[in-house]
Amino acid sequence: MRMYDLIYTKKEGGRLSDEQIAFWVAGVTSGAVPEEQSAALLMAICWRGMDTRETLALTLAMRDSGARMDLAAVPGVKVDKHSTGGVGDKTTLVLGPIVASCGVPCAMFSGRGLGHTGGTVDKYAAIPGLRVELSPDAFRASLRATGFANSAQTGDICPADRKLYALRDVTATVESIPLITASIMAKKLAGGCEALVLDVKCGTGAFMKTPEQARALAQSMVAVGQAHGMRVKALVTRMAEPLGWAIGNALEVMEAVEILKGGVDSDLARMSLRLAAEMLILGGAAGTLAEAGAMVDAAITSGRAMASFRAWVAHNGGDPAALDDFSLLPGSRRTVAVTAPAAGFVQAMDSRALGLLAMELGAGRRSRNDQLDLGVGIRVEVQVGQWVDAGQKLLTLYCNERDGNPLPDGWITLGPAPCEPSPWLLESF
Ligand code: URA
Repeated sequence: MRMYDLIYTKKEGGRLSDEQIAFWVAGVTSGAVPEEQSAALLMAICWRGMDTRETLALTLAMRDSGARMDLAAVPGVKVDKHSTGGVGDKTTLVLGPIVASCGVPCAMFSGRGLGHTGGTVDKYAAIPGLRVELSPDAFRASLRATGFANSAQTGDICPADRKLYALRDVTATVESIPLITASIMAKKLAGGCEALVLDVKCGTGAFMKTPEQARALAQSMVAVGQAHGMRVKALVTRMAEPLGWAIGNALEVMEAVEILKGGVDSDLARMSLRLAAEMLILGGAAGTLAEAGAMVDAAITSGRAMASFRAWVAHNGGDPAALDDFSLLPGSRRTVAVTAPAAGFVQAMDSRALGLLAMELGAGRRSRNDQLDLGVGIRVEVQVGQWVDAGQKLLTLYCNERDGNPLPDGWITLGPAPCEPSPWLLESF
């Protein structure tokens, strides 16, 4: 087999065989395929696309390029959730303990944040002592003992994806539905889950800017998962303004705990509880959304979900007292209030701009090796559709070393016309 033929076939709009795709990915992993040939093939895939059979072949070849988590000995349908990334997205912190407390094993791998989007691993790292990088044995032990395991993905999972992603990053080939699908699904399959709920974010603060792009990605990931015999559900959700009031790691732990303790009525709470319900259905614990929703509500009102969170934190070396006494979480030395320059209805808030502001304060990474300040961040004090008076507080900035000045232009739009926030759920597949 020659890489030249694969590139030529795809350039002409042909389809690659499973064997050709496996040959390419094996060559990427070993270093036998030169980067210029992979780059040419990536660009040809960007333009010509891949069908579901080819995308599944790429997914499986990337999954098999490194280590795989073996969860076969843990009873039950192991479920995971993937979000394509947003600002203030702490749904995993909410749904993990709920799903585990309903008896469905929740086996999740999460990422670290980069740029304006936060990472779940960083939010967990704000809980004092909590181990966020688990060995395979520690991961399985957590899953058996508490029904929940969450770890940063280790370097030996999907090495082909890491190499190809680095190449895509410098060759303008990240934005390709089959390449994104294979990259995400390969890592999820290597993580050992049997059922997966996908939260495909759509909007200014997300990877997928338009409903059409988000729908295409959701449908592609569902098609590949189902072609592999996996139980998959995708929700396309809005990512225009930040999710919830908290941006920043310790602050996001606090907001997740508030929701788990009950009585919070917000889009973030509704989204987290819906994702948890979908996981219960895929995990076989409920037959309908109504049944799953009632289980989720009962887990919260009975206190079982919080008990499950405390038990999981304690099992993994963390201090569960920090979930009830927030002064034990990392904090900030001072706060700065950002106030409204004029009166008006909040028309829009730009989650990307606020994510970048949080990054400037130290809550996020500009580049991969940056150290985070887990105690800093932003409290968003208003919501889209709300009337604000001139001088009213819009944001509270929690600061240590940096103060976030100047504020990003256009982070908020105020206007005279009343407006409603659009629904958080756009579509489901
Ligand atoms: N996230 C991934 O893991 N891979 C992609 O290709 C894009 C987003």
